Amino acid sequence: MRITWGVDAAAKKAGQTVPVAWQSASAINGHVLLAGMTGAGKTYQLRRVIREMQATSDGPIRFHVFDVHGDIDIEGASTVLFSEQTPYGFNPLRINADPHFGGIRRRVQEFIATMNRAMRSMGTKQEAALRNLLYDVYARHGFDPGDPRTWRIDDQAARLLSDGTDNRLYLDVPLGEKDEAKALGAKWDPGARCWHIVPTEYHGAITRWPPKTVARACPTIEEVMHYAKHILEMAFLGTGMETITALELTNRAANAFQRKLLEALRRGERAFEDEKLNGEIDKCKDKAIAAFTGYVQSISSGHELANLLKYDSTEVLKSVVDRLENLHATGLFKATPPPFDVEASVWRYNIRPLSMAERKLFTLFRLEALFAAAVQRGEQPQIVEVV
Ligand SMILES: Nc1ncnc2c1ncn2[C@@H]1O[C@H](COP(=O)(O)OP(=O)(O)OP(=O)(O)O)[C@@H](O)[C@H]1O
Ligand SMILES: [Mg+2]
Repeated sequence: MRITWGVDAAAKKAGQTVPVAWQSASAINGHVLLAGMTGAGKTYQLRRVIREMQATSDGPIRFHVFDVHGDIDIEGASTVLFSEQTPYGFNPLRINADPHFGGIRRRVQEFIATMNRAMRSMGTKQEAALRNLLYDVYARHGFDPGDPRTWRIDDQAARLLSDGTDNRLYLDVPLGEKDEAKALGAKWDPGARCWHIVPTEYHGAITRWPPKTVARACPTIEEVMHYAKHILEMAFLGTGMETITALELTNRAANAFQRKLLEALRRGERAFEDEKLNGEIDKCKDKAIAAFTGYVQSISSGHELANLLKYDSTEVLKSVVDRLENLHATGLFKATPPPFDVEASVWRYNIRPLSMAERKLFTLFRLEALFAAAVQRGEQPQIVEVV
């Protein structure tokens, strides 16, 4: 493969014409830096370079163009726009099922390393807490770090139960926990035989149940974030999931009463009573107390608290939750892969709508994945991929 750049300027002064070219056969490394003022012709040259590389390549070649200005139009390129609004992204928790190059441990390690590179570096305690969280969430999805047979999933089948057009998020609620799900606002779909809520209401205690998928799927950043928040609450209160749910319901009931009370005061009523709501609050309180008592009573091995604290102190956990929230807030790490055309030689990632920090995050995570795939592919006789 060859890229011609022009002619040697010094030689030209001496009246000679010496072409300057980059040749893959003799190049020491494959990196090129094009620098110039705005309008100097960098984008123009980039287009020309891609055309020339395509023309002189020895086989199929894939170009990845990270287009920060959104102006690198290339003929025949497959372009995907990445923004908070588009549904596509890359799930950084997707597992490579190859027994030698993939697996849970490697994914967790590389995910943490990339996070450290893209954001402020984590301390060893935070890293350990995040590692434990990730292993737990993978385990919840049936992935066993020691058993490569569990790493394989069917990407096509592993979709959400709803396609998103019915404004329903189906939840994986075990039979024994249906009353709690109902109390938290979930509705039963007799056809699908599954509980569901409005997707925008998926926060708080209800996130203890993951979204229902048709087949086993990889976890997402959002799930890890919700899971981490629950652990944080449980560790903070020294209790279990039922108590957290009961506390949230009590708070909701009290909140409803407060709202009514304020409305009554605004109307000028002096004495406000609502027997039904008061009864509701008392019922919720009793349940919360029972849940707390139940948790304390269930302590049997003496490791219960230590189990929660394997994620370290609540401060460490809180800082990990903050990071996951920041990562999730970028809206980049979605489970739906971008619809790039596999036939197209040039894949153009239009990342113009993203902020500076998001572009960096996106590019680093994408480069990490491309690099891992290249390592797995091993040495090739010719260039197959250009970034
Ligand atoms: N070698 C060239 N021959 C003819 N036209 C050129 C050449 N190089 C650049 N141009 C033209 O000059 C204009 C600016 O070039 P280009 O967009 O590539 O600049 P740029 O360095 O990418 O600028 P920016 O930093 O603003 O993105 C374009 O209209 C382009 O078509
Ligand atoms: Mg340009």
